[in-house]
Amino acid sequence: MEWGTTTLAFYGLGAAAVATSVVTLRKRLELSQAKHRSLTGHSRIARRLAALVPFYAYADERFFSSDDAPADVVARRCAGFARLSTLYKTRFAETIRRTAEASASISDLQFTDAYRVPFQYSRRVRADLPSATFMQSTSGVTMIDLDGNRFYDLSGSYGVNVLGYDFYKEAIARGAARVRELGPVLGAYHPLIVENAKLLKEISGLDEVSFHMSGTEAVMQAVRLARYHTRRSHLVRFCGAYHGWWGDVQPGIGNPVPAHETYTLTDMSADTLRVLRTRRNIACVLVNPLQALHPNASDAADSSLLDSSRRAHFDREAYAEWLKELRAVCTERNIVLIFDEVFVGFRLAKGGAQDYFGVRADLVTYGKTIGGGLPIGVVCGRSDLMKRFRDHRPADICFARGTFNAHPYVMAAMNEFLRHLQTPQADALYCDLDRIWNERAQRLNRRLADETLPVEVVNMSSIWTVCYTQQSRNNWMFQYYLRAEGLALSWTGTGRLIFSLNYTEADFAAVADRFVAAAKAMQQDGWWWHSPAVTSKSIRRTILKEMIVHRLFSPRDRSTH
Ligand SMILES: Cc1ncc(COP(=O)(O)O)c(C=O)c1O
Repeated sequence: MEWGTTTLAFYGLGAAAVATSVVTLRKRLELSQAKHRSLTGHSRIARRLAALVPFYAYADERFFSSDDAPADVVARRCAGFARLSTLYKTRFAETIRRTAEASASISDLQFTDAYRVPFQYSRRVRADLPSATFMQSTSGVTMIDLDGNRFYDLSGSYGVNVLGYDFYKEAIARGAARVRELGPVLGAYHPLIVENAKLLKEISGLDEVSFHMSGTEAVMQAVRLARYHTRRSHLVRFCGAYHGWWGDVQPGIGNPVPAHETYTLTDMSADTLRVLRTRRNIACVLVNPLQALHPNASDAADSSLLDSSRRAHFDREAYAEWLKELRAVCTERNIVLIFDEVFVGFRLAKGGAQDYFGVRADLVTYGKTIGGGLPIGVVCGRSDLMKRFRDHRPADICFARGTFNAHPYVMAAMNEFLRHLQTPQADALYCDLDRIWNERAQRLNRRLADETLPVEVVNMSSIWTVCYTQQSRNNWMFQYYLRAEGLALSWTGTGRLIFSLNYTEADFAAVADRFVAAAKAMQQDGWWWHSPAVTSKSIRRTILKEMIVHRLFSPRDRSTH
């Protein structure tokens, strides 16, 4: 009898263990299915593979013929490159000199300089088309470098510049005047912070506000609050989405250690919803609405522009539908839905992405432009989620401070920005924004197509990316032709063009003329020659072979001839 009971207990335990393993296995499988097929969707593997990529540089002939172009095309490229190099070194001489001088002391300059083009081409480009990073002044939609050259600004200052530089200059000056009597007092507030909180609550439709020093910090705080209140460990981010440089939201390349409590899942996918429905350890889902322009792909920097596979397509309705589904699952599972609007915030609509897509989040982060031109990060949220202590557990707190949080000068510039949003002028600016920018993009694309240039732009309102319509290994050169025509891009090149909303039709027409002229010059110089047999796959295969050869047979640093 006793033996029978023990045996039964064993069987019972065994059955329970099997059942548990089956459930665990099923959950694991669901998680794998919800990861995007690309390397971007597999952070750990991406990091490991990245560590294996050997450096090598194309020298001389190979630099101009990495796509095996015929001799006459190579000659045109060489001549075009030499002409461009002379233009750069004369027209931008002083700006280049000052950049080179500063570079040894400013590590950020060295980094951005190294990652403007694919590394195989970088050494030659840096020598012949040196970076010129300094500017001395701005007005309207243009900026002037140290040599007196005027550029149309397509860099958007990382997205900060929504209303035009003149607005921010004035906001900073007016704001500084309003808080001058107090000065840089921290801890105690200047009274104008109260109006900021009120306006931010109105805009976000949420109950409380906290101020931080950068978008990265705002995201850190939002995730920390979500973990604290749900008592769960994991955050979900979507494949390719940028949320600042904090380790937990940057689990792949760029972060020296793995992020163990981050799931990177596929955007706009039913598999992802299944994971959210079944896992119990998910505290929050982070959404960067910019991904609507290129779901599941990273920010498109020219440093990885080795072929023409860059794709983008913005479907506002489809993305809004996805956000609604996400909202429903998060509500059902008590998962905190965080919209990271640091970039898109006041660019798409006055009420931000929540208004633009018609979906409400539990926490929203803002940054960049909302500082009125000064450094900022903001979290808005439901009051139950914003609370940093528990009434009945006094030692169980969610710590978040920051010396410069709510700096009076920043609060004052922010106040100027937020007050401006309330004006009829701002209403007029945001009215019809998508139509204006969609039409501009279509107009430019028509011109490019009419001239049979292998370039097109894809836009999400005033945020644009350049795509390439035929295969080429040399698209990264386009940024240099654009600069030669007086268009200033950020260091990520043609991957992201950001227009400020004060661009007039005349300003835009000037940009379009220059854009077309740059593409024509690049085409005439032969950079877009391509063999019809070449595909994205074949280019990637060739590069992979080069990497393997260099990894196996080359000493550390070699040039390919
Ligand atoms: C969506 C998003 N979140 C967070 C950040 C980080 O902001 P910051 O650079 O101010 O730290 C950025 C910056 O580009 C961003 O685009």
